[in-house]
Amino acid sequence: MKIKVADRISEVQEYYFSRKLREIAQRRSEGEDIINLGIGSPDMAPAPEVIEELRRAAADPTHHGYQSYRGIPELRSAFADFYQRHFQIGVDPETEVLPLIGSKEGIMHISMAYLGAGDHVLVPNPGYPSYRAAARLAGANVIDYELNSDWLPDFEKLESEDLDKVKIMWVNYPHMPTGKNAPIGFFEKLVAFATRNNILLCHDNPYAFILNSNPSSLLSVPGSKETAIELMSLSKAFNMAGWRVGALVGNQDRINEVLRFKSNMDSGMFKPVQLAAVAALRSPLAWFDSLNDEYRARRVLAEDILKQLGCKLDGEQVGMFVWAKVGPVFSDGENLSDLVLDQSGVFIVPGMIFGSRGNDYVRISLCSPQPLLTESLRRIKHFMTATIAQS
Ligand SMILES: Cc1ncc(COP(=O)(O)O)c(C=O)c1O
Repeated sequence: MKIKVADRISEVQEYYFSRKLREIAQRRSEGEDIINLGIGSPDMAPAPEVIEELRRAAADPTHHGYQSYRGIPELRSAFADFYQRHFQIGVDPETEVLPLIGSKEGIMHISMAYLGAGDHVLVPNPGYPSYRAAARLAGANVIDYELNSDWLPDFEKLESEDLDKVKIMWVNYPHMPTGKNAPIGFFEKLVAFATRNNILLCHDNPYAFILNSNPSSLLSVPGSKETAIELMSLSKAFNMAGWRVGALVGNQDRINEVLRFKSNMDSGMFKPVQLAAVAALRSPLAWFDSLNDEYRARRVLAEDILKQLGCKLDGEQVGMFVWAKVGPVFSDGENLSDLVLDQSGVFIVPGMIFGSRGNDYVRISLCSPQPLLTESLRRIKHFMTATIAQS
């Protein structure tokens, strides 16, 4: 049978990683030993209390039914307490928190709740590809805003253009893929820009706790809830990417608007997952310390790999990746990525998948254990010796 897909599907391609992981799996099945330094899926386990809570809660026969669309009250309270404890922000657990099946689903829900044909969306270039894809699926026009040499938006340039049709601006600091952290006063400028231009500011904040000495929330700016909403995720900070837990935090009207779409699309998460997420959100600060000790050691190795490849990088990066500019040995990030994969069996992400501004860059994830990073370094030294000898 031949069946035509909906027009909206022709607007997007299969997610880059979905295709690349399939290719890597195929090559592995043919006997190739490939190290994947691409995807940001934490390889370490969640805290033992979290696993134990899942086990305990799953054994309760009353926990297996449909759950509330708004999430269980304990989870909403745990998110509100988390915001108070880590960011000193008051959030009403009854009305200002919406638990989500990960922040990626939140990006789609927000897009479906606010965007339609004729609406414009500001999306960072480079940036997380889902903002663009979700906007297109919702039928809106994507307007890339190029980040400047400091990986920040250029407000003057943006305001010199017609912003009348812009409804949403996506922002994400600590920024993925560049590792840029929000400088002091930057969130205030963002909120003022969005307020002046009547734009809903959507802040995606999954990396606040990774290698960052000052985790922060955009909602700490006074008055920001009038114009901004924030996505929080347990995927990275608690090693729970496969569990699919996050939340949207914002004012009551925004939460209800997004819930109107979401409640038509899915149901509440499995209760034991929600209860285990409560345990994660209550983790002591020592949890982040031990996580970051490991990531710090990995980052040294990742930086060494990139330096061996002749790349240039900024040592101030935060988050779960290292981003680097390709040196003269390679024509661009894609060329480096292809050659390194083919000749040394190490997969490094080309920056172009995050937008044209990433063409000359590559990204290494810190989600591989130190022995694999050390082995990658060995292979890459070998590869570079051969490459330089040939040139
Ligand atoms: C910037 C950014 N936002 C959102 C996500 C998705 O996170 P989640 O697992 O909460 O859907 C990712 C995952 O890589 C990301 O890098």
